[in-house]
Amino acid sequence: MPDPAHSPAHNQTVSKRIFERARKVMPSGYTRHLVVARPHPIYADFADGCWITDVEGNRKIDWVNNFSSLIHGHNKRELVDMLATQGARLMSAVLPTEWEVKLAELLCARIPSLERVRFMNSGTEANQIAIKAARAYTGKPKIAKMEGGYHGQFDLLEASFQSTPENWGDPKRPNAIAYQGGHPQALLDLVVILPLNDIEAARTLLREHAHELAAVILDPQRLQLGMVKPSQAFLEMLREETERLGILLIFDEVWALRAGYHGFQGEIGLTPDLTTMGKIIGGGIPVGGCGGKAEFMSVFEVDAGDPKVKHSGTFTANPLAMAMGFTSLSLLTPEAFADLAAKGERLRDGLERIKRDLKLEATVLGEGSLSALVMTTKPMRNYRELAAAFAADLGRSMPVVQSLLADEQLLTMRGGFIGSTPMTDNDIDFTIAGVRRAFERYKVL
Ligand SMILES: Cc1ncc(COP(=O)(O)O)c(C=O)c1O
Repeated sequence: MPDPAHSPAHNQTVSKRIFERARKVMPSGYTRHLVVARPHPIYADFADGCWITDVEGNRKIDWVNNFSSLIHGHNKRELVDMLATQGARLMSAVLPTEWEVKLAELLCARIPSLERVRFMNSGTEANQIAIKAARAYTGKPKIAKMEGGYHGQFDLLEASFQSTPENWGDPKRPNAIAYQGGHPQALLDLVVILPLNDIEAARTLLREHAHELAAVILDPQRLQLGMVKPSQAFLEMLREETERLGILLIFDEVWALRAGYHGFQGEIGLTPDLTTMGKIIGGGIPVGGCGGKAEFMSVFEVDAGDPKVKHSGTFTANPLAMAMGFTSLSLLTPEAFADLAAKGERLRDGLERIKRDLKLEATVLGEGSLSALVMTTKPMRNYRELAAAFAADLGRSMPVVQSLLADEQLLTMRGGFIGSTPMTDNDIDFTIAGVRRAFERYKVL
């Protein structure tokens, strides 16, 4: 997805030169569509704590944290030390290391659904493996996902990530729509799209497809960067129905795990059958994880011969990622989560004040370390309402986001703020002041 918000505002000479070289060796100069910016991206140079400096020498407070993965911001001393120590001892090998056991023990002790865990190298891969496990366990082929839900780059789960009014069909029975050019119909036929927060419609679809559904997967915390939240009642319905119908419930907590010490599932008191993880469990190094009750994870067991699901991977459970993940999570005590949430509250209070003072037609969203100020007051209960609000109103925030980017703030295109542990009250207040200035400058009222 191009992120025009990250287009450079000023001072672009060095980036322009790098980009000219990039265009000669990478399609359009990019290897990650998430960072597409016009006329070219600004390249990063180095970072310190929650501040990142680009190659032009501009410093910005980093509210993106590489899409939530850097919960300790940049260059946390304990993590840099571990990187150096473990890098010097062993980066990867064909033998397992104790680090994978330590990280698995830590996760099983904290996350309610986890009795057994396996590791991989990304959230995408975690979801792929979870789907394989669900199919092998249930013997059924299809997967249900939410309309608009994001689960990484596994094409099966990309169905209807960005469907449009022209193709999304009946709101009670959303069409499975291709996301990629060449997305095979055969893959779309394996996916049942559920309308988020429509309890009756989703229940009906689950019952209708129960005989062929291996799993339902969703991020239990959010849809599309936190703009839409699954209701507790919807999640409870999914838990009850899947259990009754012999379908596995997968919580994709690749992002949501940062919600608290026991993950998002701990916050809401609902336990899925399988949980997928990534981002913060690698301490800044690429990682993925998939776990659940021993019974569901038994498909990987080799005690009685060939496993039902075979899973290896060259860099799987490499000691660098395992050691970094263990160190990062060990620093995330209940007190650290409380502090992250308090800072999130401080930011949201400040955004609410700006909204009130400037009489903005806006909504402050978020919880814990995630916050957003969106330029709409319309309800956003599902992907379609979000898309409609975005088309009608949210685009208005773009100049404000642009202005913030020029004003020492790095945030997501839709005005999302993802906090990190090194942020101080001063950093938060600096951001609040910047947001106020940006709205005053653009008078988006
Ligand atoms: C909910 C969710 N699932 C899966 C992924 C994919 O993870 P990765 O980018 O590590 O493959 C993401 C990434 O943002 C995500 O937010």
